[in-house]
Amino acid sequence: MAKPHLLEIRRAALAALALCLAAPAALRAQDEVPFVVTPDNVTLAMLELAQVGPQDFVLDLGSGDGRIVILAARRFGARGLGVEIVPELVERSRRHAAQAGVADRATFAAQDLFKTDLSQATVITMYLLQEVNLQLRPDLLALRPGTRIVSHDWDMGDWRPDRSLTVDAPDKPVGRDKRSRLHLWVVPAQAEGVWCGTGPNRGARLRLTQKYQTFGATLSAGNMTRLVVGRIDGVHLRGVGGFAAAIDGARLRVTDSGDAPPALPGAEFERCAG
Ligand SMILES: C[S@@+](CC[C@H](N)C(=O)[O-])C[C@H]1O[C@@H](n2cnc3c(N)ncnc32)[C@H](O)[C@@H]1O
Repeated sequence: MAKPHLLEIRRAALAALALCLAAPAALRAQDEVPFVVTPDNVTLAMLELAQVGPQDFVLDLGSGDGRIVILAARRFGARGLGVEIVPELVERSRRHAAQAGVADRATFAAQDLFKTDLSQATVITMYLLQEVNLQLRPDLLALRPGTRIVSHDWDMGDWRPDRSLTVDAPDKPVGRDKRSRLHLWVVPAQAEGVWCGTGPNRGARLRLTQKYQTFGATLSAGNMTRLVVGRIDGVHLRGVGGFAAAIDGARLRVTDSGDAPPALPGAEFERCAG
């Protein structure tokens, strides 16, 4: 038989579990990723890192008091949406947006970030946790190539950022060293697969392997074969020896075949059937 104090511990644990299961979704999400503001200078650095401009639609996942979307609208003329699970913070964000005169461009919704349509964004900002970033990663990788993602402090495991920087953050409410780490990813096009030359380049083949933003390619035409490795920046592939190509939906165009044969400037490819 269990000792009395063990029984008490077990009862307390079961009671805590029951309380947790019964808690409203807002309370649980808030407990997982609490409301902590990004200091103003770090907010600015995040938007600058993403090169936000008037054409952008900024989606802040877990938008807190709305500061990121509001600054994107006020300073950079962008439009945006903040999604936030705590209704009181959404109300506060709307008030702040109205006070800043950008309520038409900076909007807020009380909703779960995991149930949010991410495809509307050209820029996604996040100050969450690494586990949450990793949960979001498959959906982020499936976004339109060229979508920029900026995360405050947390990375995405082996999907390495395209750029990272450290910003002094004297007003940061958490942590002992008053600094923030910012990470930028540009969603790469899905290039992997076998591409077949079209038109005058029928018979040419481009076999591509891809890991996030890096690629390896075997380019073959006639009896010439060449290996190229490089990086993918949105829709643009750039490889050693001057190789450059761009993916536009289902087509791949070699814009520069570089300094070694086979020479295929301007060659168009489509995904090989079968
Ligand atoms: C660390 S704060 C960041 C706030 C703001 N983005 C900023 O950088 O100042 C994270 C926010 O995410 C919100 N949050 C947590 N889980 C969420 C979820 N599943 N859906 C939407 N918001 C969530 C929290 O309530 C909190 O306000």
